[in-house]
Amino acid sequence: MTDIGFVDRVAIVTGAGGGLGRTYALELAARGASVVVNDLGGSAAGVGADASAAQKVVDEIHAAGGAAVASHDSVATPEGGQAIVSAALEAFGKVDIVINNAGILRDRTFAKLAHEDLDAVLDVHLKGAFHVTQPAFRAMKENNYGRIVFTASNAGVLGNFGQTNYGAAKMGLVGLNNVLALEGAKNNIKSNVICPLARTRLTEELLGPLADALDPELVTPMVVYLASEACEYTHEIFSAGGGRYARMFVGLTPGWFAGKGAAVSAEDVAAHLDDIRAQDGYIVPSSVTDELGALLPLLQSD
Ligand SMILES: NC(=O)c1ccc[n+]([C@@H]2O[C@H](COP(=O)([O-])OP(=O)(O)OC[C@H]3O[C@@H](n4cnc5c(N)ncnc54)[C@H](O)[C@@H]3O)[C@@H](O)[C@H]2O)c1
Repeated sequence: MTDIGFVDRVAIVTGAGGGLGRTYALELAARGASVVVNDLGGSAAGVGADASAAQKVVDEIHAAGGAAVASHDSVATPEGGQAIVSAALEAFGKVDIVINNAGILRDRTFAKLAHEDLDAVLDVHLKGAFHVTQPAFRAMKENNYGRIVFTASNAGVLGNFGQTNYGAAKMGLVGLNNVLALEGAKNNIKSNVICPLARTRLTEELLGPLADALDPELVTPMVVYLASEACEYTHEIFSAGGGRYARMFVGLTPGWFAGKGAAVSAEDVAAHLDDIRAQDGYIVPSSVTDELGALLPLLQSD
C-alpha cells in the first residue's frame, strides 16, 4: 500500500476545535491537506460560542508547518454551512473533503424530551450536515472529485437508552449518506459514515473503565482513509474505536415469499416469522434497485 497523502487537497472538518475533529484536522494537515478548522466553540450541550476553540487548532497546525484557516460559524444554519464552505473556497480555491463531525448532546428519556432538545440536536447533527455538505457537494461536482464522511453513532445505528433525539439524528445521517453516495458516484464523490467510539468530553462520563483504552487518535486512521483518494468504498458504515475497525451494514434476509398473487393474512405472517427473520443467505443491498432485484425473480416465477 502506498502512503496516503493529501498534498493539494482541501478539507473541511466541522467541530474540529476539540475531541475527534481536532485529531482529524491535525492528521490531514500533517499529511499535506489545507484544512478549514470549523468549530463554534460552545458547550457539550450546544450552548454559547468561543472563537478560540478553532483558532487553537489552527495555531497547532501552523506551528507544525501546515496550512489551515479557522471558521467559527455554526453548522446549524444554512448561512453557517455556506460560510464554512466559502471559507475553504476563498482561502484554498476548492473543497475536496468534508468531514461532518460537529456534535452536541441533549440526552433525555423519550417521555421527558423537550422540543427544544429535539430541535437543537437535529439542527447540529442532521441539518448541520445538509447545510455544510450541500454547498460543498456542488463545488466537488465541478471538480469531479470528493470525499465526504458523516459521523453517525452506534446510539442511532444500534440504539442507546435516553438518546432518541441523538439516535434519530445519527440514523438520519445514514439515510443522507445512502442517497448522496448514489448521487455522487458519477462525479467520483465517495461518501461514507463513521461510528466512532472515543474518550472525549461528550463521552468521558459514559465510558467507565473503557475510557482509558478509547483514545480519539484510534478513530483517526479510519476517517483519514475514508477522506483519501485511496478510499475505494462508498455508501458504507464503519465502526472505529479502541483499535478495532469494523463494517456495519443494513442486511436483507431472503425472507418468506407467500407465492405470486397469494392472499396473505396476519396469521400467515405470524406462522412464517422464523423464515422471515432467518439470517442465512442475507444480502447487503446498496440501493432500492438491489432490493427490487431480489424480489423480481420471485414475482416473475410461475
Ligand atoms: N466520542 C464518541 O465516542 C462518539 C461516539 C459516537 C459519535 N460521536 C460523534 O462524534 C462527533 C465528535 O464528537 P466528540 O466526541 O469529539 O465530542 P466534542 O464535543 O469534543 O466535539 C464536538 C465538537 O463540535 C463542536 N460543535 C458543536 N456544535 C457545533 C456547531 N453548531 N457548529 C460547529 N461546531 C459545533 C463543538 O464545539 C465540539 O468541539 C460528534 O458528532 C459526536 O456525536 C462521538
